[in-house]
Amino acid sequence: MRALDVGCGPGALTAALVERLGTANVCGADPSEPFTKACRARLPGVEVVVATAESLPFAASAFDATLSQLVVNFMRDPEAGVREMEGVTRSGGVVASCVWDYAGEMTLLRAFWDAAREVDPERAAAADEAVVMGWCGERELADLWRSAGLRHVRFGPLLVRAGYASFEDLWSPLPTGVAPSGAFCKSLDQDRRVALRDAYRRHLGVGDAPFELTARAWAVAGTVP
Ligand SMILES: C[S@@+](CC[C@H](N)C(=O)[O-])C[C@H]1O[C@@H](n2cnc3c(N)ncnc32)[C@H](O)[C@@H]1O
Repeated sequence: MRALDVGCGPGALTAALVERLGTANVCGADPSEPFTKACRARLPGVEVVVATAESLPFAASAFDATLSQLVVNFMRDPEAGVREMEGVTRSGGVVASCVWDYAGEMTLLRAFWDAAREVDPERAAAADEAVVMGWCGERELADLWRSAGLRHVRFGPLLVRAGYASFEDLWSPLPTGVAPSGAFCKSLDQDRRVALRDAYRRHLGVGDAPFELTARAWAVAGTVP
């Protein structure tokens, strides 16, 4: 079985595919040069190309499964991206994705944006991923799959858990500007950043002890006709 990871980033899903299918049967694609470089370094021997979902440099029907994890909302044109994923997958193969449940039970981000709305209500309301991300419900995602012509579309929730050593462990990457939440955090002046940090900690109800958070993603899969 050959599989493609679209929007592979530094290779979280690519690594899981390599474990199951072997290096020679897995490819990755991402428009970010640094991410593709990181993915190649993590998984030597895997073909990782710089490309968007909307324009994949692979032959038609080259893969048995084409997947993307937490990427649909970052595509410039999700309809075109999903059609292109379908185009590089053989008839009978699978096209599947997942997106965070930004508006609901993606706890880390929901608590972040609720805290941000307290500190800078107008800007946070405009940047909240529950508002900005167009595809964060299972039914909308399933409709996107159907409109791309995929068959036997199935969808449902995925629940994941992550452990943190302390609130600081969770907070520390945010001021560096990583992801939309980090970019928002970085854009604040020092006083507001401190206020956000306090509000976020309060919303999560965590402190200096280790804790776990759960996060829900919506998953969708369809079969290529
Ligand atoms: C939230 S990250 C997910 C990365 C990886 N799939 C993972 O699960 O860790 C979103 C990824 O989408 C990539 N991306 C942005 N625009 C894209 C596009 N048009 N087509 C494919 N990937 C894109 C980004 O470079 C980034 O690596």
